Amino acid sequence: MTTQTIGLTTTKAPFIESAQAAGQTFIHQPYELYSDENQETWRQLYARIFPRWERYAHPKFMEGVANLALPADRIPRLEDINKFLSPLSGFVSRAVAGYVPAYVFFDCLRNRQFPTTITIRDRATLDYLPEPDIFHDVAGHVPMHTDRRFSDVLVRFGEVARFAAQRAQSMQGDRHTQLLRLESNIRAMARFFWFTIEFGLMRFGKELKVYGSGLLSSYSEIQHCLESDQVQRFPLQLEWVVNQYFEINHFQELLFIVDSFDHLFALVDQLEDWLAQGRLDNVSGGEPVINETDLNSFLQADLTQ
Ligand SMILES: [Fe+2]
Repeated sequence: MTTQTIGLTTTKAPFIESAQAAGQTFIHQPYELYSDENQETWRQLYARIFPRWERYAHPKFMEGVANLALPADRIPRLEDINKFLSPLSGFVSRAVAGYVPAYVFFDCLRNRQFPTTITIRDRATLDYLPEPDIFHDVAGHVPMHTDRRFSDVLVRFGEVARFAAQRAQSMQGDRHTQLLRLESNIRAMARFFWFTIEFGLMRFGKELKVYGSGLLSSYSEIQHCLESDQVQRFPLQLEWVVNQYFEINHFQELLFIVDSFDHLFALVDQLEDWLAQGRLDNVSGGEPVINETDLNSFLQADLTQ
């Protein structure tokens, strides 16, 4: 088998499997391993979605696409992306081998690093895959990271996660109660992240625009989220978002609108206040499920750094 046929296809990449087996989280992007089919998948995804970005995406996202010189004809090299990105906001994309435990992910954001998947979806699943891939991460997320104010929101979110870890590690009393509180805190943060950074809508004059990366990387959903009467769109209320379950395997039927990036930043501040006041200690159950690895990532976080 040649490298041309092995490729870096999501869930089918031996390079990723060996990195995971070796316990590596951060890796490099072995660009030569992308197959011709992988490159063709990027070209198709990009060509299909670009006109929809022009119509539905927030203008700051389009500025980001231009400022990154995001290539239409080939999978981007992260080092090229970072050359454009880093002077604009201090952010860099850092290649990862797959799932990153919750605290590690948020703490990367605090340090202006974005854990970035390097595999690309199979040609057979252009429309939907549950795992992130490089199209979701680099074409969906990274253009927004060029905006200083948006990047500050991510950093602030990382600070909230750090505060949650400090709070969990210093909690006294019954271990079971401590774990339930932490689980609730992480669930609240994950929901906030989902309904803003991943699936957020923003006012722009009299229109609504998309700034959430889950929408920006989906050819079908970017249109559906703004045009379908099946979707409920409400001004973001923190008490609702932190108690609202979400499911990842279908189009979102409920989305939340913020007024501006400043508004979003203020909401993250409020999230931290609520955490400090114990208002996130018992949010409603349900999705997402917080696994033991995520809990331990907070409990065992090294807070001296
Ligand atoms: Fe994402």
